[in-house]
Amino acid sequence: MEERLKSIFAAFQGEKNELISLLQEVQEEFGYLPVEAMKEVARFLRLPESKVFGVATFYARFHLEPRGRHILRQCCGTACHVRGAQRIADKIMDVLKVEAGRTTKDLQFTYEQVACIGACGLAPVMTIDETTYGKLTPDKTQEILEGYVREGEGGSA
Ligand code: FES
Repeated sequence: MEERLKSIFAAFQGEKNELISLLQEVQEEFGYLPVEAMKEVARFLRLPESKVFGVATFYARFHLEPRGRHILRQCCGTACHVRGAQRIADKIMDVLKVEAGRTTKDLQFTYEQVACIGACGLAPVMTIDETTYGKLTPDKTQEILEGYVREGEGGSA
């Protein structure tokens, strides 16, 4: 990690106002912001660690844990909510053994709950990477997720 950070830092002056762009570079390199890397950023910019952690947690674009291979976004907006988003959420958590906002232990999925994604006519809706799945039922959700799990295990899906 040290070497990778050094080469990132080399492009910066060490000015405090570089914090956000520096965090962005670090995240690009590692896929998320490891705690050790944030501590190094604090040292490099001569900022308190609490300031760096504060900024990293404030902005939704920064991720404090590794991201999964697939990003699953489940809509919890009003239309999806009234059409059973909670039952879909329960199914996702049950099948993937992961809570909202977290990544599965095998790093296959990051599960996020989001506000309306503009496909209310298809409610309840989730997206996995670039694909949108609508009119979900718990069974349909399970089937879709199992397809990805099989694919991750090397089968065909
Ligand atoms: S509320 Fe879910 S897509 Fe609009």
